[in-house]
Amino acid sequence: MRKSFLALTLAAVIGVGLLTGCGSDTPATETAPAAEEEKDVDEAPQADEEEAGDAEETGEAEKKDSGDKLVLGFAQIGQESGWRDGETNDVQWYAAQHTDTIDLVFADAQQKQENQIKAIRNFIDMGVDVIAFPPVVETGWEAVLTECQEAGIPVILVDRGVDESCADLYATQISSDFVWEGAQAADIVGDLLGGSGKVVELEGTVGASAANERKEGFDKELADNYPDIEIVDSQTGDFTRALGKEVMESFLKSYDDIDAVFAHNDDMALGAIEAIKEAGKKPGEDIKIVGCDGVKGAFEAMVAGEMNGTVECNPCLAEQIFETAAKLKAGETVDKWIVSNDGVFRQEDAEAELPNRTY
Ligand code: AHR
Repeated sequence: MRKSFLALTLAAVIGVGLLTGCGSDTPATETAPAAEEEKDVDEAPQADEEEAGDAEETGEAEKKDSGDKLVLGFAQIGQESGWRDGETNDVQWYAAQHTDTIDLVFADAQQKQENQIKAIRNFIDMGVDVIAFPPVVETGWEAVLTECQEAGIPVILVDRGVDESCADLYATQISSDFVWEGAQAADIVGDLLGGSGKVVELEGTVGASAANERKEGFDKELADNYPDIEIVDSQTGDFTRALGKEVMESFLKSYDDIDAVFAHNDDMALGAIEAIKEAGKKPGEDIKIVGCDGVKGAFEAMVAGEMNGTVECNPCLAEQIFETAAKLKAGETVDKWIVSNDGVFRQEDAEAELPNRTY
């Protein structure tokens, strides 16, 4: 029986329109077809678009032969946020600038762990040198990471972590410190409220390390240092603007005395701003708003007086990813956690900083 199936299409270097990396405003010229499309197939299509087109009927991955080039398989989560798009653009742009030394095989898993796992298995079959991916959630990676290890392919976790049971199954994690980010957000909220008030929390994707750890840092910092600030509700908005808005609407219906929102990412904060405006209140004034990520849209909202702070989470990781991958391919050891250096920005910093934002 044929099943309806969301196909992953892989491409060596994918671009939609003109890509720009975080470190440059020079557009890459190479483009390739879109990353995914709806298919009706028997099995998981496992194709490198550059080499095999849509091999949806075979399910076979072709061996990658790129000579001396570094072949990196990147299984992206999806396109849930502006931040995520920034990371994707940076990775694809960097690879497009280094086609003489790098061959990127990119998959878009459309928010599904099962698709990330399929893409990783495909990379193993292709014989890539290194696999990099941001784990959509923390759990459920033992089997596929063991397969990577057995195949001798080092794994780089990008921007999110996995649970402790997998600690020996990956080479390194390149990411921000989410607990620190949550604590920084709590300090901004604590200052804005003068140490007392009612807060709601818009959480990220359930089970994602970015959500779990930001919550851990935020809740602990408030409990330790701002005992008169109460978190009256905390629910997931899945890191998307649409759900952030929807959940904020329901918070506003349930509580008429919300003083501040902590959104685990800026996209949800921007959704909350819309909900607050539609409820006839002034975001940034009646209800203070603090996010995470540091996307351009958050800075624009701060300049407009509608948002109060954001804690940066750097998505511009491409250079570190490819340089680390080259070291791993060469058999070198690298630090287990390569931590990003992130900034904290309040409304008063926004105007000066806005021109510097690249994502
Ligand atoms: O893992 C990083 C988080 O994932 C970013 O904060 C968020 O915007 C993204 O979706």
